[in-house]
Amino acid sequence: MDRIRIVGGRPLNGTIPISGAKNATLPLMIASLLTEQTLILDNVPRLADVVQLQRILGNHGVDVMMSGKRSGDDEYKGQTMHLSAARIVDTTAPYELVSKMRASFWVIAPLVARMGEARVSMPGGCAIGTRPVDLLIMALERLGAAIEIDGGYVVARARNGLRGGEIAFPKVTVSGTHVAVMAAALAAGTTVIENAAREPEVVDVAECLNKMGARISGAGSPRIVVEGVAKLSGARHSVVPDRIETGTYAMAVAMTGGELVLDGARPELLQAALDVLGRADVEVAPTNRGLRVARNGAGIRSVEVTTEPFPGFPTDLQAQLMALMSCARGTSRITETIFENRFMHVQELVRLGARIHLDGETATIEGVERLKGAPVMATDLRASVSLVIAALAAEGETMVNRVYHLDRGFERLEDKLARCGATIERVSS
Ligand code: UD1
Repeated sequence: MDRIRIVGGRPLNGTIPISGAKNATLPLMIASLLTEQTLILDNVPRLADVVQLQRILGNHGVDVMMSGKRSGDDEYKGQTMHLSAARIVDTTAPYELVSKMRASFWVIAPLVARMGEARVSMPGGCAIGTRPVDLLIMALERLGAAIEIDGGYVVARARNGLRGGEIAFPKVTVSGTHVAVMAAALAAGTTVIENAAREPEVVDVAECLNKMGARISGAGSPRIVVEGVAKLSGARHSVVPDRIETGTYAMAVAMTGGELVLDGARPELLQAALDVLGRADVEVAPTNRGLRVARNGAGIRSVEVTTEPFPGFPTDLQAQLMALMSCARGTSRITETIFENRFMHVQELVRLGARIHLDGETATIEGVERLKGAPVMATDLRASVSLVIAALAAEGETMVNRVYHLDRGFERLEDKLARCGATIERVSS
């Protein structure tokens, strides 16, 4: 199993290209099941989760082709992916495949919408709380699907097709919103989704579906209206830049000092996080190509932050912010409201010398002068990268174990950081 070795204490300086967003790529790939024509996605990141979803879609009969890379191509240019679901050969998503990645459960929506039937295993995924699928099931039921749980599988049926309906989510859910929008796109009549997630990835998927002929309005607001159409067609769409990757590198340079240009970043997609960095005395400035983030000399000021659905501070940057605050002046407080149990990085940060006290959903972080390298272990995707950030600033060597979590969500992490001056390498064993 690969490990990452980091020797901390060096500032980051240079340019990091921002990849396409993992959390947009996955639902976009799944949306290819809605049409028999080819969907072409540009700016697709090279990630283990993308490869895994390719396998899952392949099992349903989707033909996936990556465009060849010509020699001399900029190696950071995202990939182009052609997905063709001309013939769906299987409407079952088996346990062995779905248990490896939670988002693959979402295939239930296009399968039942187009084929009238889907049998999808209950999901697995990151160990960050219970993460149920009750609201996804509720959304499908509101559109007329009959749902049954059978041997660990959710079976959804709509023999005569789905029909539009009212879906009011009792809490904001990204997965629920994706499923509702995809299913409603092919349902007969109009669907109104209330309390919809406003995340940029929801907007990106709606834009792509509209290029495919869907009639979706209001994506990005809490009320999405979908007028169902009988068929969708192919389209070409470029994946939105990854705001979580952007925020992660912004926090990394805030932690180590130095200056990074995050090329291709879209600052407006992570304004809440950038505001927090500003409050922490980190310099943040938009440029014509992305974002410049710098910290020169000055220390980090402590902050109080609560995670919230978009446009609030994202839960997917909570662990990274905690790493940063472990070296701030004074005491910080971070409250996690989206996922219970998303504090698995705390014990590992403590191993590096952080002073963190947990009380229910709030972590209190007492800033220390310096962290010290140690062997640490990652338990989920965002937790792993918070350990990398902490290690970049820590004195001495840190070995991050179980890096497969990082490969799920960060494209060429060690390469991008090493080019900006970090001492970081992958050790295969
Ligand atoms: C997505 C992101 C993940 C991010 C999260 C919140 C992807 C692939 N993953 O996850 O990186 O951390 O949004 O921004 O895009 N819930 C229910 N019942 C349900 C569904 C969700 O109670 O049926 C709860 C969850 O347990 C959680 C909250 O709703 O407490 C938000 O979950 P949701 O927004 O659906 O997260 P994901 O889409 O799984």
